[in-house]
Amino acid sequence: MRVPLMAGNWKLFKTAAETTVFCERFLPMVAAASHCEILICPPFVNIPAAVAATQGSKVGVGGQDVYWQKEGAFTGEVSAPMLKAVGCRSVIIGHSERRQYFGETDTTVFKKTTAAIEAGLQPIVCVGETLDERESNRTEDVLATQFKGGLGALRPDEFAKIVIAYEPVWAIGTGRTATPDMAAAAHKFLRDQVRGAFGEEAAQAVRILYGGSVKPANVKNLMAQPDIDGALVGGASLKPEDFSLIVNF
Ligand code: PGA
Repeated sequence: MRVPLMAGNWKLFKTAAETTVFCERFLPMVAAASHCEILICPPFVNIPAAVAATQGSKVGVGGQDVYWQKEGAFTGEVSAPMLKAVGCRSVIIGHSERRQYFGETDTTVFKKTTAAIEAGLQPIVCVGETLDERESNRTEDVLATQFKGGLGALRPDEFAKIVIAYEPVWAIGTGRTATPDMAAAAHKFLRDQVRGAFGEEAAQAVRILYGGSVKPANVKNLMAQPDIDGALVGGASLKPEDFSLIVNF
């Protein structure tokens, strides 16, 4: 039985003070939610505020990115042991915005994923096709390539620690959600990739989240799909009411 994971990706939003206010309102709204794990991923500088505000609650805190070196002359970067030390449980890796604007590749995704696992963080590794790729029928090729390049070379014991997030790029922040059927097909395809690379047990165990315009109004139908094990939520995770409705789908 896979425990659902509902994760909020706050992107470049909220100050430390706003983070504290969010948590004060959000925690009571999800206090009774025992059916899933809950995570918020604020910008790096607000992680300490989030950790302090969620202490003793079931809400975990994660980073939105990580560098693969532990330390060194890498101006501007943050390492996996640093995220762990500040109280992170997880880290998002390979988000499409990082791929699109910051030169993330399947190779860097792989390096970041192994570094996160080594530091004891749970990587949430994002894959997904662009609109152009979907319209030219390349969705499965793209997912297979991203899976192979970003995750395929992990050791089985490493793979057991990761979460995959399927996020069709055309559905992110656009209000255009993949239909439950579309998402289900992509999730099944990804689970088949896992089965091929790591075997049946790994395929049954790995959680695959859906991301891309998840809202209170569509979460239930998405979560009803057998291969969808949670959500990676951007915009709607910034509002305590909306994110709590998503968590309590
Ligand atoms: P969205 O973002 O929910 O605002 O579409 C999802 C994401 O980018 O993780």
